[in-house]
Amino acid sequence: MCGIYACLGDSEATNKVLAGLKRIEYRGYDSWGIATSKDGKLKLEKYVGKISKVKKISLDNSFFAIGHTRWATHGGVTKNNAHPHLAKNKSFALVQNGVLENYSELKKELQKDGYKFTTQTDTEVIVALIEQVCGENIEAEKLNRVIKKLTGRNTILILTKNGQVWAHRQGSPLIVGKDQKENYFFSSDLASISHDAKFYHVMENGELIHLDQKLTSNLRSKIVLQKISQKALEIDKGEYKHFMLKEIFEQPESLLKVIQNKQELLKKIANKIESSTNIYVVGAGSASYAANSISHQLRRVKDNVYHVPAYDYNDFAKSFKKNDLAIILSQSGETADTIEAVEFLKSKGVTIISVVNMPGSSLMQMADLAYPLDVGAEIGVASTKALTAHMLFGMALVDYLEKQNFSFLQEVEKFCQQLEIWLRKQKEEKKIQSLAKFLRRKNDLYILGRGQLLSSALEFALKVKEVSYLHAEGFSAGELKHGVIALIEKNTPVICLLASDQHREDMVSAAHEVQARGAKVIGIAMEKEDVFDYFIQLPNNEKFINLSTIVVAQLLTYELALIKKLDPDKPRNLAKSVTVK
Ligand code: AGP
Repeated sequence: MCGIYACLGDSEATNKVLAGLKRIEYRGYDSWGIATSKDGKLKLEKYVGKISKVKKISLDNSFFAIGHTRWATHGGVTKNNAHPHLAKNKSFALVQNGVLENYSELKKELQKDGYKFTTQTDTEVIVALIEQVCGENIEAEKLNRVIKKLTGRNTILILTKNGQVWAHRQGSPLIVGKDQKENYFFSSDLASISHDAKFYHVMENGELIHLDQKLTSNLRSKIVLQKISQKALEIDKGEYKHFMLKEIFEQPESLLKVIQNKQELLKKIANKIESSTNIYVVGAGSASYAANSISHQLRRVKDNVYHVPAYDYNDFAKSFKKNDLAIILSQSGETADTIEAVEFLKSKGVTIISVVNMPGSSLMQMADLAYPLDVGAEIGVASTKALTAHMLFGMALVDYLEKQNFSFLQEVEKFCQQLEIWLRKQKEEKKIQSLAKFLRRKNDLYILGRGQLLSSALEFALKVKEVSYLHAEGFSAGELKHGVIALIEKNTPVICLLASDQHREDMVSAAHEVQARGAKVIGIAMEKEDVFDYFIQLPNNEKFINLSTIVVAQLLTYELALIKKLDPDKPRNLAKSVTVK
């Protein structure tokens, strides 16, 4: 949940690290810091708060600089706990991305040896261990001795006072890159490093890289030249005020990218589904709701399909067998819960299909078959276009399994045109804005869905919670009379997601039941019902109503955040990629 960025060899290294950290700020924005090495001395600058607000720093420029933007795991959000952490003997500075799981026992041993800790972080334990074993001079053999003591997923980068760099990847991603002038860069993600480097290597778990001050390295003979579509890595807001709004409005285009020129890949996956015994669809957070939606859809054409929330994979552990298949959903490809689930699934011989947006990510590398979402960088912490992309992937797969052809692409093209018009016309936008005003001072919001719209209701609630901090609960309308209805009182806002399917009548009766108890009923559907106090009309396309209801959720959440003067792109306590368990 943090971001590491480094530049070695370039005369503007400090400024490049500052710019690089701004590009990966979405990975964690509690605090940040930069360390430089110049004339045999290390200098540090660290602050609490978001680096995006910083225009200039007092550190001089240098040829060697490392930086870190933090999402706090151990130790509060303070300047002292911010990275980089300096060794007491001032011979090196270190940044970490991940968690040192055995830090408390290691800390006790170090305290017994007389080490006085000055921060509450687990990272300082790593610094103290390296200093204890290596003293002023880090060598591979000694460093490896320290690394062997560390448990958990903790990737580290060290800058020594004389400009040497040591990088070790264990879990959290780390990419090393090179530009044409042979300057080196390190980053936690590919999108950010591609602004500086044209050649890169995704470090493997357990890999240790050393660059001496002349930048000669133990790196494998060549860093593989990787051409990535710039679109996939473009990270600027363009005409939009926030990334979240940009990524919402990109969906008519991004949805097409999900399945364009992917027929062969879809066919391969469909064949694997048909020949497998059990199918597990796995994800966390929004990706878990997408997994729920895909499982619901797949059950139309296949038995033994299970939605597995990544963090609960143990509940299914006994069922995982050799001839099973797991479809893994992730935007970042670095979610620790999901990676751990995949490691276990692989140990049971389950075939892994990863459906991931970030190229070069861990989950892409771990797959037997990787399906790139190709929706372009998603920078807003709340998942929007990646979530709808995952759900569309599932629809395309089921459509192919049912029809054995790819006519679905034409249907997607039609829906995308309708969605584009619906978004641009903004006829509903005014109603969404007034709905946001109505919800502004509410403490609770309930969202009802049934069948294919249950996943949409759950995702709706997550968006509202994580971006506007309004408590929202999504659940099946079938649950209402089994308890939840006790919460309904005068003016309680209840959103009803309505499709024209077999659940419509039950949904309308549920709306009447909550209204009879004083609720304000907000209908989100293609046609209005008399019971609605508010009505948001969806694009006229029943087949994609699971997606269009979510686009309304995204817009409503965005408007709510604006009214509450919140930053929709960087909600409190969150980070874009949950790389720690
Ligand atoms: C999405 O809005 C959330 N921020 C979060 O739940 C996210 O979907 C989840 O952490 C999974 O991330 P991934 O898709 O990168 O694996």
